[in-house]
Amino acid sequence: MEKPLMRALAGEPVWPPPLWVMRQAGRYLPEYRALRAEVPDLLTLFTTPDLATEITLQPIRRFGFDAAILFSDILILPWALGHPLRFAEGPVLPKLSDPASLATLDLNRMPERVEAVIETVRRVRARLDAKTALIGFAGAPFTVACYMVEGGGSADFASARLMAHAKPALFSKLVSLLTQATIAFLTQQLEAGADAVMLFDSWAGVLPPSLFGAHVIESSRRITESLKARFPHARVIGFPRLAGLMFPAYAAKTSVDAAGMDTSVDPAVARRLVPEGVALQGNLDPQALVAGGMALESETRAILTAMRGHPFVFNLGHGIVPHTPVDHVCALVQMVRNA
Ligand code: CP3
Repeated sequence: MEKPLMRALAGEPVWPPPLWVMRQAGRYLPEYRALRAEVPDLLTLFTTPDLATEITLQPIRRFGFDAAILFSDILILPWALGHPLRFAEGPVLPKLSDPASLATLDLNRMPERVEAVIETVRRVRARLDAKTALIGFAGAPFTVACYMVEGGGSADFASARLMAHAKPALFSKLVSLLTQATIAFLTQQLEAGADAVMLFDSWAGVLPPSLFGAHVIESSRRITESLKARFPHARVIGFPRLAGLMFPAYAAKTSVDAAGMDTSVDPAVARRLVPEGVALQGNLDPQALVAGGMALESETRAILTAMRGHPFVFNLGHGIVPHTPVDHVCALVQMVRNA
Protein backbone atom coordinates (compact mmCIF):
# COMPACT_ATOMS: atom_id res chain seq x y z
CA MET A 1 0.00 0.00 0.00
CA GLU A 2 1.47 3.31 -1.03
CA LYS A 3 1.81 6.03 1.59
CA PRO A 4 -1.21 8.40 1.70
CA LEU A 5 1.04 11.45 1.21
CA MET A 6 2.63 9.92 -1.90
CA ARG A 7 -0.77 8.98 -3.33
CA ALA A 8 -2.03 12.53 -2.90
CA LEU A 9 1.16 13.92 -4.48
CA ALA A 10 0.60 11.53 -7.41
CA GLY A 11 -2.74 13.24 -8.06
CA GLU A 12 -5.15 10.98 -6.17
CA PRO A 13 -7.88 12.71 -4.12
CA VAL A 14 -7.12 10.66 -0.98
CA TRP A 15 -9.76 11.16 1.74
CA PRO A 16 -9.39 11.94 4.58
CA PRO A 17 -6.41 13.90 3.27
CA PRO A 18 -2.88 13.21 4.51
CA LEU A 19 -1.71 15.72 7.11
CA TRP A 20 1.53 17.28 8.36
CA VAL A 21 2.43 20.71 9.71
CA MET A 22 5.15 23.13 8.59
CA ARG A 23 7.75 23.52 11.39
CA GLN A 24 6.16 20.53 13.13
CA ALA A 25 9.42 19.87 15.00
CA GLY A 26 9.94 22.96 17.08
CA ARG A 27 9.44 25.15 20.08
CA TYR A 28 5.72 24.46 20.70
CA LEU A 29 6.75 20.91 21.76
CA PRO A 30 7.98 20.50 25.36
CA GLU A 31 10.24 17.61 24.31
CA TYR A 32 11.90 19.87 21.71
CA ARG A 33 12.39 22.65 24.27
CA ALA A 34 13.98 20.16 26.68
CA LEU A 35 16.52 19.05 24.08
CA ARG A 36 17.14 22.63 22.98
CA ALA A 37 17.87 23.63 26.60
CA GLU A 38 20.65 21.03 26.69
CA VAL A 39 22.05 21.99 23.27
CA PRO A 40 21.39 25.70 22.77
CA ASP A 41 23.36 26.04 19.51
CA LEU A 42 20.94 25.49 16.61
CA LEU A 43 23.66 24.71 14.08
CA THR A 44 24.82 21.87 16.35
CA LEU A 45 21.24 20.53 16.47
CA PHE A 46 20.98 20.63 12.67
CA THR A 47 24.34 18.90 12.10
CA THR A 48 24.33 16.16 14.77
CA PRO A 49 22.50 13.14 13.26
CA ASP A 50 21.51 11.68 16.65
CA LEU A 51 19.85 14.90 17.78
CA ALA A 52 18.34 15.86 14.41
CA THR A 53 16.88 12.34 14.01
CA GLU A 54 15.29 12.47 17.46
CA ILE A 55 13.80 15.94 16.80
CA THR A 56 12.47 14.90 13.37
CA LEU A 57 10.65 11.95 14.99
CA GLN A 58 9.19 13.83 18.00
CA PRO A 59 6.05 15.11 16.23
CA ILE A 60 5.51 11.74 14.50
CA ARG A 61 5.46 9.95 17.84
CA ARG A 62 3.11 12.45 19.39
CA PHE A 63 0.64 13.05 16.55
CA GLY A 64 1.17 10.28 13.94
CA PHE A 65 1.39 12.75 11.05
CA ASP A 66 1.53 11.29 7.53
CA ALA A 67 4.97 12.77 6.90
CA ALA A 68 8.13 13.51 8.81
CA ILE A 69 10.09 16.51 7.57
CA LEU A 70 13.84 16.48 8.00
CA PHE A 71 14.92 18.71 10.91
CA SER A 72 17.33 21.09 9.18
CA ASP A 73 17.16 24.65 7.88
CA ILE A 74 17.09 26.35 4.48
CA LEU A 75 20.30 28.20 5.42
CA ILE A 76 22.31 24.97 5.79
CA LEU A 77 22.90 25.01 2.02
CA PRO A 78 24.65 28.42 1.84
CA TRP A 79 26.55 27.45 4.98
CA ALA A 80 27.73 24.27 3.22
CA LEU A 81 28.83 26.40 0.26
CA GLY A 82 31.13 28.27 2.65
CA HIS A 83 28.93 31.27 3.54
CA PRO A 84 29.19 31.65 7.34
CA LEU A 85 26.02 31.27 9.45
CA ARG A 86 25.02 31.63 13.05
CA PHE A 87 21.66 31.85 14.78
CA ALA A 88 20.90 34.68 17.22
CA GLU A 89 17.23 35.80 17.42
CA GLY A 90 17.11 34.77 13.76
CA PRO A 91 19.78 33.73 11.25
CA VAL A 92 22.85 35.99 10.88
CA LEU A 93 25.02 35.83 7.72
CA PRO A 94 27.55 38.13 6.05
CA LYS A 95 25.87 40.29 3.37
CA LEU A 96 26.72 39.11 -0.12
CA SER A 97 27.09 42.24 -2.27
CA ASP A 98 29.81 41.76 -4.91
CA PRO A 99 31.27 39.24 -7.36
CA ALA A 100 34.24 38.55 -5.03
CA SER A 101 31.99 37.11 -2.28
CA LEU A 102 30.05 35.12 -4.87
CA ALA A 103 33.38 33.63 -6.06
CA THR A 104 34.11 32.27 -2.56
CA LEU A 105 31.08 29.92 -2.72
CA ASP A 106 32.39 26.42 -3.36
CA LEU A 107 30.05 23.88 -4.93
CA ASN A 108 32.64 21.12 -4.71
CA ARG A 109 32.89 21.11 -0.93
CA MET A 110 29.12 21.19 -0.37
CA PRO A 111 28.43 17.41 -0.52
CA GLU A 112 30.84 16.59 2.32
CA ARG A 113 29.73 19.59 4.41
CA VAL A 114 26.12 18.31 4.38
CA GLU A 115 27.08 14.71 5.18
CA ALA A 116 25.62 14.93 8.72
CA VAL A 117 22.28 16.10 7.30
CA ILE A 118 22.26 13.25 4.79
CA GLU A 119 23.07 10.79 7.58
CA THR A 120 20.00 12.14 9.42
CA VAL A 121 17.88 11.34 6.35
CA ARG A 122 19.17 7.73 6.38
CA ARG A 123 18.50 7.31 10.10
CA VAL A 124 15.00 8.79 9.99
CA ARG A 125 14.16 6.66 6.95
CA ALA A 126 15.20 3.53 8.84
CA ARG A 127 12.95 4.41 11.78
CA LEU A 128 9.70 5.37 10.01
CA ASP A 129 6.87 2.88 9.56
CA ALA A 130 5.55 1.87 6.13
CA LYS A 131 2.79 4.50 5.97
CA THR A 132 4.78 7.59 6.98
CA ALA A 133 6.58 9.51 4.25
CA LEU A 134 9.86 11.39 4.68
CA ILE A 135 10.05 14.88 3.20
CA GLY A 136 13.46 16.35 2.47
CA PHE A 137 13.74 20.04 1.62
CA ALA A 138 15.72 23.05 0.58
CA GLY A 139 15.05 26.74 0.39
CA ALA A 140 14.23 27.74 -3.17
CA PRO A 141 17.11 29.67 -4.77
CA PHE A 142 15.40 33.07 -4.70
CA THR A 143 14.55 32.86 -0.98
CA VAL A 144 18.04 31.64 -0.05
CA ALA A 145 19.53 34.47 -2.14
CA CYS A 146 17.32 36.92 -0.19
CA TYR A 147 18.87 35.87 3.14
CA MET A 148 22.41 35.91 1.70
CA VAL A 149 22.13 39.40 0.20
CA GLU A 150 20.26 40.82 3.19
CA GLY A 151 22.52 39.13 5.78
CA GLY A 152 19.49 37.75 7.69
CA GLY A 153 15.74 38.20 7.92
CA SER A 154 13.86 41.29 6.73
CA ALA A 155 10.27 42.46 6.38
CA ASP A 156 10.59 43.16 2.65
CA PHE A 157 14.07 42.03 1.49
CA ALA A 158 14.68 45.43 -0.08
CA SER A 159 18.44 44.89 -0.62
CA ALA A 160 17.86 41.61 -2.43
CA ARG A 161 15.21 43.18 -4.67
CA LEU A 162 17.48 46.17 -5.25
CA MET A 163 20.29 43.86 -6.38
CA ALA A 164 17.90 42.01 -8.70
CA HIS A 165 17.12 45.35 -10.41
CA ALA A 166 20.46 47.17 -10.15
CA LYS A 167 22.95 44.33 -10.60
CA PRO A 168 20.88 41.83 -12.58
CA ALA A 169 23.85 39.83 -13.84
CA LEU A 170 25.27 39.34 -10.33
CA PHE A 171 21.88 38.42 -8.86
CA SER A 172 21.14 35.97 -11.69
CA LYS A 173 24.54 34.36 -11.21
CA LEU A 174 23.80 33.88 -7.52
CA VAL A 175 20.37 32.36 -8.19
CA SER A 176 21.84 30.13 -10.85
CA LEU A 177 24.63 28.87 -8.57
CA LEU A 178 22.10 28.17 -5.83
CA THR A 179 19.92 26.31 -8.35
CA GLN A 180 22.83 24.01 -9.20
CA ALA A 181 23.70 23.51 -5.54
CA THR A 182 20.06 22.78 -4.66
CA ILE A 183 19.83 20.09 -7.35
CA ALA A 184 22.95 18.42 -5.92
CA PHE A 185 21.74 18.69 -2.30
CA LEU A 186 18.23 17.36 -3.01
CA THR A 187 19.73 14.55 -5.12
CA GLN A 188 21.71 13.48 -2.05
CA GLN A 189 18.54 13.60 0.10
CA LEU A 190 16.58 11.47 -2.38
CA GLU A 191 19.42 8.97 -2.64
CA ALA A 192 19.47 8.72 1.17
CA GLY A 193 15.77 7.82 1.28
CA ALA A 194 13.57 10.95 1.16
CA ASP A 195 10.23 10.14 -0.55
CA ALA A 196 9.50 13.72 -1.57
CA VAL A 197 11.22 17.08 -1.36
CA MET A 198 9.82 20.52 -0.71
CA LEU A 199 11.13 23.84 -2.04
CA PHE A 200 10.44 26.66 0.43
CA ASP A 201 10.13 29.93 -1.52
CA SER A 202 8.99 31.88 1.52
CA TRP A 203 9.71 35.30 -0.03
CA ALA A 204 8.64 34.62 -3.64
CA GLY A 205 5.87 37.19 -3.21
CA VAL A 206 8.18 40.19 -2.75
CA LEU A 207 9.16 40.12 -6.45
CA PRO A 208 7.36 42.03 -9.21
CA PRO A 209 5.86 39.77 -11.93
CA SER A 210 8.65 40.83 -14.32
CA LEU A 211 11.26 39.08 -12.14
CA PHE A 212 9.09 36.29 -10.73
CA GLY A 213 9.38 34.23 -13.93
CA ALA A 214 13.18 34.17 -13.98
CA HIS A 215 14.02 33.93 -10.29
CA VAL A 216 11.12 31.89 -8.92
CA ILE A 217 9.48 29.88 -11.72
CA GLU A 218 12.52 29.16 -13.88
CA SER A 219 14.85 28.14 -11.03
CA SER A 220 12.22 25.88 -9.45
CA ARG A 221 11.41 24.34 -12.84
CA ARG A 222 15.10 23.53 -13.41
CA ILE A 223 15.35 21.86 -10.00
CA THR A 224 12.13 19.87 -10.37
CA GLU A 225 12.90 18.67 -13.88
CA SER A 226 16.49 17.62 -13.07
CA LEU A 227 15.32 15.66 -10.03
CA LYS A 228 12.54 13.95 -11.96
CA ALA A 229 14.86 13.00 -14.79
CA ARG A 230 17.01 11.18 -12.27
CA PHE A 231 14.31 9.92 -9.83
CA PRO A 232 11.09 9.32 -11.79
CA HIS A 233 9.15 8.44 -8.60
CA ALA A 234 10.30 11.38 -6.51
CA ARG A 235 7.65 14.00 -5.76
CA VAL A 236 8.23 17.72 -5.43
CA ILE A 237 6.15 20.20 -3.39
CA GLY A 238 6.70 23.89 -4.15
CA PHE A 239 5.71 26.67 -1.72
CA PRO A 240 5.68 30.08 -3.44
CA ARG A 241 4.60 32.05 -0.40
CA LEU A 242 2.58 35.22 -1.07
CA ALA A 243 2.81 34.69 -4.84
CA GLY A 244 -0.71 36.15 -5.22
CA LEU A 245 -1.82 36.24 -8.86
CA MET A 246 1.40 34.40 -9.88
CA PHE A 247 0.31 31.27 -8.00
CA PRO A 248 -1.44 29.58 -10.99
CA ALA A 249 1.53 30.24 -13.29
CA TYR A 250 3.84 28.76 -10.67
CA ALA A 251 1.68 25.63 -10.41
CA ALA A 252 1.46 25.29 -14.20
CA LYS A 253 5.07 25.95 -15.19
CA THR A 254 7.38 24.54 -12.51
CA SER A 255 6.43 20.84 -12.92
CA VAL A 256 5.85 20.55 -9.16
CA ASP A 257 3.51 17.75 -8.06
CA ALA A 258 1.92 19.94 -5.40
CA ALA A 259 1.73 23.67 -4.82
CA GLY A 260 1.67 24.90 -1.23
CA MET A 261 -0.98 27.54 -0.52
CA ASP A 262 -0.10 30.21 2.04
CA THR A 263 -2.79 31.59 4.35
CA SER A 264 -3.83 34.31 1.86
CA VAL A 265 -4.94 31.81 -0.83
CA ASP A 266 -8.62 30.86 -1.19
CA PRO A 267 -8.47 27.07 -1.67
CA ALA A 268 -11.71 26.96 -3.68
CA VAL A 269 -10.25 29.47 -6.15
CA ALA A 270 -6.80 27.83 -6.29
CA ARG A 271 -8.42 24.51 -7.09
CA ARG A 272 -10.02 25.97 -10.22
CA LEU A 273 -6.83 27.68 -11.38
CA VAL A 274 -4.19 24.95 -11.12
CA PRO A 275 -3.73 22.37 -13.90
CA GLU A 276 -5.51 19.06 -13.52
CA GLY A 277 -3.46 16.61 -11.47
CA VAL A 278 -1.45 19.22 -9.55
CA ALA A 279 -2.12 18.62 -5.86
CA LEU A 280 -2.61 21.47 -3.37
CA GLN A 281 -1.26 21.73 0.16
CA GLY A 282 -2.24 24.06 3.01
CA ASN A 283 -3.42 26.38 4.36
CA LEU A 284 -4.86 26.80 7.84
CA ASP A 285 -3.88 30.12 9.43
CA PRO A 286 -1.33 29.28 12.17
CA GLN A 287 -3.17 31.79 14.39
CA ALA A 288 -6.42 29.78 14.07
CA LEU A 289 -4.45 26.88 15.54
CA VAL A 290 -3.33 29.09 18.42
CA ALA A 291 -6.93 30.24 18.95
CA GLY A 292 -8.39 26.72 19.01
CA GLY A 293 -12.10 26.13 19.72
CA MET A 294 -14.75 27.33 17.29
CA ALA A 295 -12.30 29.36 15.19
CA LEU A 296 -10.08 26.33 14.62
CA GLU A 297 -13.07 24.16 13.86
CA SER A 298 -14.75 26.45 11.34
CA GLU A 299 -11.50 27.34 9.53
CA THR A 300 -10.51 23.68 9.28
CA ARG A 301 -13.95 22.61 8.03
CA ALA A 302 -13.98 25.34 5.38
CA ILE A 303 -10.66 24.13 3.97
CA LEU A 304 -11.76 20.50 4.02
CA THR A 305 -15.02 21.35 2.25
CA ALA A 306 -13.23 23.39 -0.42
CA MET A 307 -10.69 20.63 -1.11
CA ARG A 308 -12.78 17.47 -1.07
CA GLY A 309 -12.38 15.60 -4.37
CA HIS A 310 -9.09 17.32 -5.26
CA PRO A 311 -5.64 15.80 -4.54
CA PHE A 312 -4.83 17.55 -1.28
CA VAL A 313 -2.44 17.57 1.67
CA PHE A 314 -3.69 19.29 4.81
CA ASN A 315 -1.15 21.69 6.32
CA LEU A 316 -0.89 25.20 7.72
CA GLY A 317 -0.47 28.30 5.54
CA HIS A 318 2.92 28.96 7.19
CA GLY A 319 4.97 27.52 10.07
CA ILE A 320 3.35 26.63 13.40
CA VAL A 321 4.15 29.31 15.99
CA PRO A 322 5.94 28.59 19.30
CA HIS A 323 3.03 29.41 21.65
CA THR A 324 0.59 27.01 19.93
CA PRO A 325 -1.05 24.74 22.56
CA VAL A 326 -0.25 21.07 21.89
CA ASP A 327 -3.92 20.22 22.65
CA HIS A 328 -5.02 22.32 19.70
CA VAL A 329 -2.76 20.30 17.41
CA CYS A 330 -4.38 17.10 18.76
CA ALA A 331 -7.83 18.58 18.05
CA LEU A 332 -6.77 19.46 14.50
CA VAL A 333 -5.46 15.94 13.85
CA GLN A 334 -8.74 14.48 15.07
CA MET A 335 -10.84 16.77 12.89
CA VAL A 336 -8.83 16.01 9.74
CA ARG A 337 -8.80 12.26 10.45
CA ASN A 338 -12.60 12.31 10.80
CA ALA A 339 -13.18 14.40 7.67
O1 CP3 B 1 9.34 22.21 9.25
C1 CP3 B 1 10.11 21.58 10.00
O2 CP3 B 1 9.77 21.12 11.11
C2 CP3 B 1 11.51 21.25 9.48
C3 CP3 B 1 12.57 22.09 9.86
C4 CP3 B 1 12.67 23.52 9.33
C5 CP3 B 1 13.30 24.56 10.04
N1 CP3 B 1 13.38 25.66 9.24
C6 CP3 B 1 13.83 24.45 11.40
C7 CP3 B 1 14.02 25.69 12.18
C8 CP3 B 1 12.32 24.04 8.07
C9 CP3 B 1 11.58 23.39 6.91
C10 CP3 B 1 12.78 25.40 8.04
C11 CP3 B 1 12.63 26.28 6.87
C12 CP3 B 1 13.03 27.68 6.97
N2 CP3 B 1 14.05 28.25 7.69
C13 CP3 B 1 12.42 28.71 6.21
C14 CP3 B 1 11.32 28.52 5.20
C15 CP3 B 1 9.99 28.33 5.80
C16 CP3 B 1 9.42 29.57 6.44
O3 CP3 B 1 9.21 29.53 7.67
O4 CP3 B 1 9.14 30.53 5.73
C17 CP3 B 1 13.08 29.91 6.54
C18 CP3 B 1 12.74 31.29 5.98
C19 CP3 B 1 14.11 29.60 7.47
C20 CP3 B 1 15.13 30.52 8.06
C21 CP3 B 1 15.04 30.57 9.53
N3 CP3 B 1 15.42 29.56 10.38
C22 CP3 B 1 14.57 31.63 10.33
C23 CP3 B 1 14.03 32.95 9.78
C24 CP3 B 1 14.68 31.24 11.66
C25 CP3 B 1 14.39 32.06 12.89
C26 CP3 B 1 12.92 32.29 13.06
C27 CP3 B 1 12.32 31.23 13.92
O5 CP3 B 1 11.29 30.65 13.55
O6 CP3 B 1 12.88 31.01 15.02
C28 CP3 B 1 15.19 29.91 11.68
C29 CP3 B 1 15.42 29.05 12.87
C30 CP3 B 1 14.73 27.72 12.87
N4 CP3 B 1 14.74 26.83 11.84
C31 CP3 B 1 13.97 27.17 13.93
C32 CP3 B 1 13.52 25.91 13.50
C33 CP3 B 1 12.70 24.88 14.28
C34 CP3 B 1 13.74 27.80 15.28
C35 CP3 B 1 14.50 26.95 16.21
C36 CP3 B 1 14.61 27.43 17.61
O7 CP3 B 1 14.74 28.63 17.89
O8 CP3 B 1 14.61 26.51 18.46
